[in-house]
Amino acid sequence: MHVVIINGSPRTKKFSNTDKIIQSFAKGLQSEGSTCEVYSLSNRSEWEAAWEAFMTHDKIIIALPLYVECAPSLLLEFLSTLPTERRKPATLSFILQSGFAEGCQLRCGEAFLKSLPAQLGCTFGGCLLRGNNFSIRIAKEGERNKILKPYADMGRSFAQKGNFLSPEAARFVGLETFPLVLRKFIMLSYKVVGHRKFCRAATEWGCTRPLDDRPY
Ligand SMILES: Cc1cc2nc3c(=O)[nH]c(=O)nc-3n(C[C@H](O)[C@H](O)[C@H](O)COP(=O)(O)O)c2cc1C
Repeated sequence: MHVVIINGSPRTKKFSNTDKIIQSFAKGLQSEGSTCEVYSLSNRSEWEAAWEAFMTHDKIIIALPLYVECAPSLLLEFLSTLPTERRKPATLSFILQSGFAEGCQLRCGEAFLKSLPAQLGCTFGGCLLRGNNFSIRIAKEGERNKILKPYADMGRSFAQKGNFLSPEAARFVGLETFPLVLRKFIMLSYKVVGHRKFCRAATEWGCTRPLDDRPY
């Protein structure tokens, strides 16, 4: 199987967590005898080749980070240049990854991505979701490998099944929400430590109003 993978992050390849995820996923794909070609939309000079690859191949994955609960606008801009009809049928799948760990915050993005393939003349091949990826690009090698290895496993699974519609792909998201006790603890630590730190930073940057100000 040959797979076209498009990185929809606006971060340049060197700094993109999505790129590291794609590299790990590709290793898994290749270990099962599949091949892939990868395009990064952060590099405008790759757009034409990505467009061509999207239109002429039948297995396509768009990998993207969650940015403010949404798909990055750079990716939306690229998608808006694609025709809604195609001569060659294709399956369009997604890898949606994020910084925060809870699966529930990826669900809105997932619903949006589900609606895309039909608009682009493709069949939906599922959505691989996972958070907790903030630190990939800054983590030490051991820690980074620990985060990335599951993506290699999913690359192997994709090479066998050709989509993310399997039960293991559905489980990949992990915890939907943290347990209540942990959520309470996080909220309390934010109130006690986090909020104070944000206020101090805001004051240093010249902010004179409280951060929770509601002037209107
Ligand atoms: C502008 C911006 C907005 C973000 N918004 C969210 C968000 O709403 N939820 C979340 O979990 N992570 C959010 N993140 C974290 C990214 O999804 C995460 O760091 C991701 O791994 C970045 O991938 P990239 O380096 O390929 O762009 C945001 C990051 C940035 C820079």
